[in-house]
Amino acid sequence: MLTSLTLLVPPVPPPLLSFNRLSHFPFSPSISAATSASDLLRVVSRRLVLATKTQSLTTMTTQEEECMGSVKAQLAKLFEASLKVTVPNEPDVEPLIAACTGKFGDYQCNNAMGLWSKIKGKGTQFRGPPAVGEAIKNNLPTSEMIESCSVAGPGFVNVVLSKNWMSKSIQKMLIEGIDTWAPMPPVKTAVVDFSSPNIAKEMHVGHLRSTIIGDTLARMLEFSKVKVLRRNHVGDWGTQFGMLIEFLFEKFPNFEDATETAIGDLQAFYKASKLRFDSDPEFKERAQQAVVRLQGGEEKYRRAWAQICEISRTEFHKVYQRLGVHLEEKGESFYNPYIPGVIEGLTKQGLVEESQGARVIFIEGVNIPLIVVKSDGGFNYASTDLTALWYRLNEEKAEWIIYVTDVGQQQHFDMVFKAAKRAGWLPQGDNSYPKASHVGFGLVLGEDGKRFRTRNTEVVRLVDLLDEAKSRSKAALIERGKGEQWAEEEIESTADAVGYGAVKYADLKNNRLTNYTFNFDQMLNDKGNTAVYLLYAHARICSIIRRSGKDIEELTKNGTLVLEHKDERDLGIHLLQFAEVVEEACTNLLPNVLCDYLYNLSEIFSKFYSNPECKVIGSDKETSRLLLCEATAVVMRKCFNLLGITPIYKI
Ligand code: ARG
Repeated sequence: MLTSLTLLVPPVPPPLLSFNRLSHFPFSPSISAATSASDLLRVVSRRLVLATKTQSLTTMTTQEEECMGSVKAQLAKLFEASLKVTVPNEPDVEPLIAACTGKFGDYQCNNAMGLWSKIKGKGTQFRGPPAVGEAIKNNLPTSEMIESCSVAGPGFVNVVLSKNWMSKSIQKMLIEGIDTWAPMPPVKTAVVDFSSPNIAKEMHVGHLRSTIIGDTLARMLEFSKVKVLRRNHVGDWGTQFGMLIEFLFEKFPNFEDATETAIGDLQAFYKASKLRFDSDPEFKERAQQAVVRLQGGEEKYRRAWAQICEISRTEFHKVYQRLGVHLEEKGESFYNPYIPGVIEGLTKQGLVEESQGARVIFIEGVNIPLIVVKSDGGFNYASTDLTALWYRLNEEKAEWIIYVTDVGQQQHFDMVFKAAKRAGWLPQGDNSYPKASHVGFGLVLGEDGKRFRTRNTEVVRLVDLLDEAKSRSKAALIERGKGEQWAEEEIESTADAVGYGAVKYADLKNNRLTNYTFNFDQMLNDKGNTAVYLLYAHARICSIIRRSGKDIEELTKNGTLVLEHKDERDLGIHLLQFAEVVEEACTNLLPNVLCDYLYNLSEIFSKFYSNPECKVIGSDKETSRLLLCEATAVVMRKCFNLLGITPIYKI
């Protein structure tokens, strides 16, 4: 059955404007990795969709045109067809399409100039790039998407989209749901390795950033129908456990009694045990023995270790619960049993060499080697990460593995990935799959421009930080008089949404590579580019719809959306661009791209709504404008959802 299904599928040439122009689609591995009929069908249907996309476009029907992803991707298909006719001797020219804000059009095709330099020496009939642009324009297949086309400057082909097509597309999304605007990345399974704090140590603001960014990336992939393994790669192994276990035995002769409440602060416990370790050679000796006994699998030591991990887990969970983030723990210890086999495999391939008593892998272009077995024979962070990568590729069949940590770990991951390429686990090129990506981020700074710390304590307890964000937003609600108007429950849930949403958005809106300054007053401001402003803007749109007294579902089905006024059209085009923006944010793993989009959407909506010529309630265009309000609210909610922010409907 597998063979016949495979044969049914026509060969797929590399798509021209696919998920950010990936050079390689892992279709065959996906097929062989498909375990059930439904898996298989899914892979096959993806191939069919793509096959449909690349067929001759001049004969394309409207129906096919409609299921082709973002506006940019749909235009790319049209230009692809035109380019084939315009320069038949230049196959595989990738259409270069960009959104533009100029007065000449909504999008432009920028191929003419590059093509000209390619063909000018080859006896072409064209006389310069503007002529190439003209031909590209003239050879475009007719499409209801396009209102008009013009060539400008050195050969830019400008496209004005048809208002009618735009209105229809937005209304179609309202009827069929925003999921129809989701990207289609060429992977079935991805791992997002994020948060990943260390047991018994501090969960610091770096882990908070990783948690927030990682959750958003996972959400974007899930929206794109990728199966995401949300991995908490906690640091739950290593020599520090010997010291912790011995200290536990000392403090709690009956160590099963050492619950979270009994121990209190696990970080303080860690510090105290470290002090003991450093000052008492006899204790140190016992601690080192404890590591051996733990690693040898001795029951009592395993139980003590599990107990310590459990207490930490309860602590971490409080943060995840507040943030509404779901993670599945597969800590470092999970990969232990696999390490020797993986290193043996790499050794057989000739990758592992002896260096100063350690066993290492040399990486081209890096002056230090990757140590995979320490000189004392023990394994380290790198041995675990190499093994985890092997496991994720081979056992979990992940096609995209994403690691979210501070930029300080970039070199570590770079070396692990390069070692994996040397071993042939990953393809050489960076645009091929399976693929591993390190998502680095900068520091969180305090007001003083230094690493973020609270006034009196050395470290910031994340739970306290989140609690403060919530209590501040609750106070703001009370100040607005909500204490009298709303039920206690409503105040609580709104304060949760606003407070935690503010912390998340303040982090996500910056390019993740830059450091960002943590400032409650700024993030909780109801003006400017903040979650508070955006959440209120959404609530206001909902209230416009409520005040109209109309049944919006009914209008969606039976009313008609039209884009007449310039401000309506501007809003419409921005709504339509949601699909390509999410695709870009997801491909480049940049949540700030989505934040920028959301903020602009809110601004463009305000411009429309505050224009007296675009009156909504009571105007003769009420139905259409209410639909535009609803579409804005739907897209905003999807953005919030992807950013892990809970929307509010009332303010
Ligand atoms: N536990 C590490 C830390 O706190 C982060 C782990 C990231 N993931 C990984 N696979 N190395 O810095």
